[in-house]
Parts: sequence; C-alpha cells; structure tokens
Amino acid sequence: MTLLQGGLVVTPDGIIEGGSVRVQGETIAAVGLLEPERGEDVLDCAGCVVLPGGIESHCHLDLEAGAEVTADDFATGTRAALAGGTTTVLDFATQFHGQSLATGFERWMEKAAGRAVADFGFHLAMTEWRPEFASEMAGMVARGVTSFKLYMAYRHSMMVEDDEILAALTASRDLGGTIGFHCENGRLVDALVQAALAAGHTTPYHHAATRPTVLEVEAIDRLEVIAGLARAPHYVVHLSSGPGLAAIARARAGGSAVVAETCPQYLLLDVAAYGDPDADDLASRAFVMSPPLRKAADREALWAGLAAGDVQFVGTDHCSFNLVGQKDKATDFAHTPNGAPGIELRMALLWSAGVAAGRLDPARYAAVTATNAARYFGLYPRKGALLPGADADILVLDPRPTWTVRVADLHENVDHTPYEGTEVTGRVRDVFLRGHRAVVDGHLADELPQGVFLPCGTPDTSVV
Ligand code: URP
Ligand code: ZN
Repeated sequence: MTLLQGGLVVTPDGIIEGGSVRVQGETIAAVGLLEPERGEDVLDCAGCVVLPGGIESHCHLDLEAGAEVTADDFATGTRAALAGGTTTVLDFATQFHGQSLATGFERWMEKAAGRAVADFGFHLAMTEWRPEFASEMAGMVARGVTSFKLYMAYRHSMMVEDDEILAALTASRDLGGTIGFHCENGRLVDALVQAALAAGHTTPYHHAATRPTVLEVEAIDRLEVIAGLARAPHYVVHLSSGPGLAAIARARAGGSAVVAETCPQYLLLDVAAYGDPDADDLASRAFVMSPPLRKAADREALWAGLAAGDVQFVGTDHCSFNLVGQKDKATDFAHTPNGAPGIELRMALLWSAGVAAGRLDPARYAAVTATNAARYFGLYPRKGALLPGADADILVLDPRPTWTVRVADLHENVDHTPYEGTEVTGRVRDVFLRGHRAVVDGHLADELPQGVFLPCGTPDTSVV
C-alpha cells in the first residue's frame, strides 16, 4: 500500500486540505485525513495538489489523413499523455469510406492494444452515413463504444448532410449513446477556400479567413434544430468561439441536451499566430487546424463558459503532423495537414492559465480535465475521481514552479509545439496509472504500465 499524504486532495465531494489518498494495488482504498499504517510507503504531497489523472476526451493517434499519418501513434502519444498527467485517452477510431463501423473499431484496437501506456477508449468517427450504420452502432455500443462523431465540415471527404445527421441522432438516442459534432458549415468553407485559392491566396492566414466564426455558429444552430427534432443527446467538439458558445448556451437554456468541449488552443492562442496575409513561414503552418484560432475575445468567452458550466470538458484534438516532412509539403493552406499537438501539456496549461491565473478553482479544474469527461463518456466512477474503489489514476501537481515550454523537453513525437515559449506555473510531479507510478518527480519512469481498453458505458448527459 502507498499513502499519498498531506496534499490538497480534490474529490467530487469537496477539497480536503492536508488530505491523503491510500492506494492498494490498482485501486484507491481510502481518501481523507489518513495516517500511515505500519509498513506503508508514504509519498509526501505537502504543498501539492492531488487530483484525478486527466482524461483526454479528444485525440487522433495513428490517424491516416490523406497521404500522411499523424506523427504520434498510441505508443508515443500515450507516453506523452502520461508525462503530462493524463492517464486515460479517448481516441477517435475512424471508419473510412466503404468500411463498416466494426472495421474502424477493430483497426483502432490493433493500433492501440499492446502499444498504449495509458488506458484508452474510443469514440467512433463516421466519415459518411449509410442506413445500415443504425444497426452497426448497436454493435459498437455492445463493444463499449457509446459515443460517435460526425463532421459538418470537410466537404467531399467526411461531411454529412442534415438528413443524415437526423438519422444518426435518432439511432444514437435509441441506443442511449451520444454523438460529437465538428461544427463548421462545410459547404461554405469549401466555397470560401476555392475563392481564396482562385485569387492566389495560399498562406496560413487564409486558412483562418476562409473558416470564419459565423460558420461555426451556423453549424451549431442548425445542429440544434436537427437534434431538437431527434430529441437526442449530443455534444460539440472543439468549440472555438464566443458566438458558438452563446449558441450553445441558448440551446441549453431552451432544454437541449447539448454539452461542449473546448481545447487549450482556443483558450490560450489566437488568430495573430497566423501572421500577416502574405506570410508563409513554416512556423505559422503549425496553427493550420480546424476550426482555426479565433480572436482574443473568444478566448475570454470560452474561459467564462468553462467556469460557468456551459463548457463541460477540455480535450486537446491532439493531431500531430511534423512541420518538416509533413506540413511543409503542401503548396497552400488548403492542402496542409490539419491539426496540432497538445496531449502532453493540457493539464499543465489548464492549471496555469486556469487556476493559477484565477479563472478556475481546483474543483472546477478537476471537473473539466477529468471528472466530467469520465461521466459523459460512461467511465465514472472507475475513472475521473479520487474515490474509494476507483482506479488509482492520480496526478500530483506542484503549483509552485514556473517553467517555460520547450519542444525539446516534451515526449510528443513531433517537431514543434504551438505553446513554444509559454511560461507555465505549476508542474506535473507524480502520476499514477492504476497504482503504477508512471511519473516520478517530473520524470517518466523507466518501466511504464500497459494501457488497457476501457469499454464506455451509458453517457451521463447531466454534466455541467
Ligand atoms: O484540425 C484538426 N482539428 N484536425 C483533426 C480532425 C478534426 O477535425 O478533429
Ligand atoms: Zn479532432
């Protein structure tokens, strides 16, 4: 047995100052004001915050995108996740055109099993809609995949139509599942992109210019009409804007079972990262992701929504492509592989810009980085909370040190980070995955545990 002693312990029932967590084998045996038992190992957590291990609600590991494959696979991506205090990842198993949902699931299981060093579960991303998917979704639920994803963006590759969204939501509702939506109006994005390219506008600046906020808002409003017809739970993935948040808040006030995920990039970065309209330096291609970065005012609106309960969890949309050898091959923004890394820094960045900066309290931090995702994706109370009987997935975070992000110090298998040079307050000190100490005083252990597949249960759609 090990006692993590004397920290600020964050539980769903409240915060315990000078509290302790007793780990027995792979689970938590007790939480409270505990004294060491005879012969028990003690880890001094004085001055530190003891939190549930992070749950990454949104990542793409080993994803094929056109001719490229993401730089991180399940081995490197989950290693980076663990180093950063995330003990569970929910990746998007992807059904490609013509494949069954089962094929998508089984391919992703092969990619992850035996390689992942954090625990993992899957959402199932559908790149098209076919009527037989309604019954195939039932097969997925039986295998522990209860959340699905559809794209309202990416015309000519993954975008689905409104009637298809209605059919998918109806099927999902009947199965007790949920669907996450990439909310951008794909037809209008496509029209703006074609017009920009025809005008010779090829730089990353035009990636953002061709995906304006209003197209996120329109997609959310339209989704809400369709979801209202289906009366189905659903969520918005990687919410990027204040007006998009307002659309969600309106829908929630009207009784919609919608929740929202945002990402560190939309909370910390902004559109200035793309540089001026003529600049095509390689570094700005790092920010070619969809939705694009927005204005500084959007960041503040998202922080407020996160604190207020209109945004329920923070995933990263980790989708890593190297600048050299991948993003540099494209001749324009429209062909630049979309996505950015972030899986390793999520917990530290959210602590620093959230709690240390006074925008979130530690309880809300635990909710938006772990507990709410565990509940929404049917993993609670096994995951996402420091509770007796739960898996001993624990992050010991030291809130005192200040450090600077350098890609060379990260474990992500990619040649850049969008957060290069960011000053961070608070550091991941120790991480336990099911009782195995995976990070020791800031360093990954030599021997890492093997991650296990987590079948997800029925989503708890009441999260706030
Ligand atoms: O740019 C992004 N977000 N790439 C990953 C795919 C997606 O849209 O989630
Ligand atoms: Zn994504």
